[in-house]
Order: sequence, then structure tokens, then C-alpha cells
Amino acid sequence: MIVGIPKEVTVNEKRVACTPSEARRISGLGYAVLIETGAGESAGFSDPEYAKAGAEVCPDARSLWDRSDIVCKIQPPGMHPEMDCHESTRIRDGKTLICLYEPAQREEMTAEIAGTGGTVLALDAIPRISRAQKMDVLSSMANIAGYRAVLEAGNHFGRFFTGQITAAGKIAPAKVLVIGAGVAGLSAIGAAVSLGAIVRAFDTRPEVKDQIESMNAEFLDLEFEEEGGGQGGYAKVMSDAFIEAEMALFAEQAREVDIIITTALIPGRPAPKLITAEMVRSMRTGSVIVDLAAQQGGNCELTVPDEVVCENGVTIIGYTDLTSRMANQASTLYAANIFHLLSDLTPGKDGNLVLDLEDDIVRGSAVVKRGEILWPPPPIEPTAAAPAPAPEPSVAEGAVEPPRNRTLSTLIGLGMGTALILAVGSVAPASFMTHFTVFVLACFIGWQVIWNVTPALHTPLMSVTNAISGIILIGAMLQVDASSQLAVWLAIVAVTLASINVAGGFLVTQRMLRMFRKE
Ligand code: NAI
Repeated sequence: MIVGIPKEVTVNEKRVACTPSEARRISGLGYAVLIETGAGESAGFSDPEYAKAGAEVCPDARSLWDRSDIVCKIQPPGMHPEMDCHESTRIRDGKTLICLYEPAQREEMTAEIAGTGGTVLALDAIPRISRAQKMDVLSSMANIAGYRAVLEAGNHFGRFFTGQITAAGKIAPAKVLVIGAGVAGLSAIGAAVSLGAIVRAFDTRPEVKDQIESMNAEFLDLEFEEEGGGQGGYAKVMSDAFIEAEMALFAEQAREVDIIITTALIPGRPAPKLITAEMVRSMRTGSVIVDLAAQQGGNCELTVPDEVVCENGVTIIGYTDLTSRMANQASTLYAANIFHLLSDLTPGKDGNLVLDLEDDIVRGSAVVKRGEILWPPPPIEPTAAAPAPAPEPSVAEGAVEPPRNRTLSTLIGLGMGTALILAVGSVAPASFMTHFTVFVLACFIGWQVIWNVTPALHTPLMSVTNAISGIILIGAMLQVDASSQLAVWLAIVAVTLASINVAGGFLVTQRMLRMFRKE
């Protein structure tokens, strides 16, 4: 089969659905790859690069759509200026279209494509199950959009993100508020933190608190009892009282922060209006708001989609093409997602697309299959809950030993140790016995210390014990002036190794502590 990659026709769309390196990988699945001339140009991929990767460069759109069995693109079908027809009319019997199709908004087009016997797979309808993560285009794009939102904010913000102390004076770090900590929000948090800003974030789902804090940002707590998690890990629509409470929090924050990045959305719903015109006016002159939800109406009352507006000295950015503004990166991730989808749908690696409707990924994304309308898909059955653990795991099953048994085995160990010392003592000389007793006690205490520590903490513990094992060093130093040459050399080796051990122990411990320390 031939996989065709047309040039996008939507205005300002710079991305391309396939990169040269993914074209090579797709060829490895048994397909021939056809790319329209200039398709990758705005994303930084030239025709010769595609040709070098084994793809055939097609001189015009019409022959590309005619020859391709599977057309992979980014935007949903639109009016094609060169072909002078709608792209959807080119999906005929036996052809498959793979793109961000937005099926809920395209019932008429779906019926038309079904009438010609075509097939449509909507990438935006792939269920968010763990097996589908590698083909989750929405997450790939949201990740880029969150990152780019921070760069756009920085571009309009007249100050540093990071704080500095210079000869001319002290510069305070910028304060950034991120509303909605989904994929885009977390990416924005990461980018803003790495630029040195003080970042605060809020989400209706309290489970994201740990993720936010692990990125060195502050989770804003709202003292309001309402669970924000809906089905399948998505957020649910919150009550009016909750929205009112969170807006009071944002009103307070608006007076303090320099940049607000909003990403709050519940799939399939218009974006909630969370930042009022009054809040915007309360912000400092020079502040910036980036509204990622602009396409769904915006989280800010004053957002104008695709435009940058200025109100009372505050810049409000409503770009809906943030991913296209990083076309090279976005195309790279998008193309990788497409490759993974094709790889899953080509079990024989023989260039034949197999659409098995028993597969949740295929069933979720298949809008039309050879003329049969399959949209909307049935809800995915949640996997059965894992059986409850057995109440009392036995020692034989490798479970933790009950405390009473552990005490018993410690006592037996002690008894055996004492018996061994007595047995050796009855035959060995007195000087040997002193060292032997210290040795046995050291083994016993060391074993007790390590055994009672959670395995996850063994490495830091080891590094500390290394650091304090200077006793070896002292012992070795005392032997350096021994009469025997062998003892002297052994002592020198021991001093060297023990010094490395001690210094290395402190170094590793410091590094580990730094990992847990907030800057
Ligand atoms: P997501 O569903 O992963 O995250 C949205 C987050 O908003 C969720 O964590 C949810 O709990 C939270 N949320 C919902 N209602 C809230 C409320 N009232 N208050 C606080 N938090 C609330 O979505 P994702 O993938 O992160 O996308 C976020 C937005 O970015 C979407 O609107 C998406 O369309 C947009 N986007 C914009 C692009 C652009 O170029 N402007 C490009 C890509 C995505």
C-alpha cells in the first residue's frame, strides 16, 4: 500500500504529518511513502531529505491524493485551492484518511465519505489508554503548546523570569500562575520553573498536587470540599460554588503574579471563564496572560482567538496555533505518533493496513470503515478491579515476616552466635578472641542496622556509612610504620582506598540530599 503525505492547506499550518526519519521507518513496515513536494518545507524538512530517506516526492497534490491508499495529514479535510475541490471528496472506496478529524463536528462530511466507501481514522479520538500513549497526538501537541506558551509569554514580558543579584541591584524573579495542570499545564510549569520563575498552579483535580510539587512549583490549595476527578482520569464540570471559590483565589493571585497561563478545559465543553476583565485590570502593567483554551472560547473574558490584545497594559495572547509555531518539533512528535499507529495496524509488517474493530484503539478512532459509520464508539469497558490482596500473606509466599517470628529468629541467631564465640574461645589464643568478638559484634550490629531500613534507603545509608568508615583509615595509618614491608604496602593501599571511600561517601550523600532539597 502507498502512504501519502500531502502539504497542509490550512492557513498558518506549518506542520507536516511525516518527517524523513519516520518516512524511513514507515517504509520498514512494508509501505511505499509518497510525499507532496514542499510538504515539509515550513517545518524544516526538504524534498531531498525525504528522497534520501526512501520516500518518493510527488510533484502535485492531485496525483498524491489519487495514488495514495492511506493519506496521513494533520488538519481535517478542507477546501484545496490547487485541486479546486474539497479534500474529503478524494477519500474514495478503499482509501483511508488518518488525521485530527474532530468527528463530533463533522457529521455531514462523515456521511459523505461513508457514501463513497472510504475509511477515516480520527487521531483525536484515540482512547487515552496506556497502550495508546505512544500514538497520543493530543498529548504530544499539548506538551509543545504548554512549552511554547511560556516562550510567548517571555517574548511579551519585559523582564527576566529568573531573579538575579547584579552590581546594579537585585532583580526579583517573575511569578507565574498556571491554571489547569493537565498535559499542557504541566509542560508550562516545567518550562517556567526551568527559566527560574516562581511558579504556582491550580487544578480542580487534587491528585495533580504531587506532580506540581515534584516540579518545584507550588500547588494552590482551595479550601472547598469537592472532588474534581471525573471518569477516565479527566476532570468533571465543577459546581458554580466551586468555580466562584476558585475565581476568588485567582482574583487574589492576579494582583500578585506577572504571568498567567490558562489551560483549563473539560473535553467536549466550552472553556470555563475563570479570569474576568476586572482581574485583568488588577494586574500590574507589563503582565501577560496566555490563554491556551482560546479555541474553545478562552479561559479569560478578554481573549480574542488568534490575536494578541492589550488591556490596561496587560497583554492577552490567544494564539490557537502554538504547536505550529514550533513546527519542526511538533512534526517530529506527530510523525512518531503516526508511525506507532501504523505499526500497530500493520501486524504482518507487509504494507497492509488491518483494522480490527475488537482493538480498543481502532474502535475508538474509526469514524468510518469502508463506508460504515462507526462514530461514536461505545464507551470502553473499565478493566475489572484487581482482586483484593489476601488478608494474611504467609512467610512461605515471600511476604514480610510477622514481628513475633522475627523476634524468635533474632533470638535464635543471637544464641547461635554466642555458642560459636564460646566454641572458638575454648581453643583460640586470648589476643585472637578480642579481635574475633569485635568482628562478630560488628557483623551483628551492621546486619541489624541494614536489615531494619527500607530497601529504597539502602543507597543513601551506604553512602553515609562509607563516609563514616574512617576507622579503616585510622587502622591503616597505624600500620604505615610497621616493621614488615608487606604490612607497610598493605597499609598504604588501605589508606588510599579508605580515603577514596570516605570522600566519595560524603560526595554521594551530598548529591542525594540535593535531589530532595528545594532550591
Ligand atoms: P487536559 O485535559 O490534559 O488538561 C486540562 C486541565 O484543566 C485538567 O487537568 C483539568 O482538571 C483542568 N481543569 C478543568 N477545569 C478546570 C477549572 N475550572 N479550574 C482549574 N482547572 C481546571 O488538556 P491539555 O491537553 O493539557 O490541553 C489544555 C488546553 O490547551 C486545551 O484547551 C487544548 O485545546 C489547548 N491546546 C491549545 C493549543 C494552542 O495552540 N493554543 C495547542 C494544544 C492544546
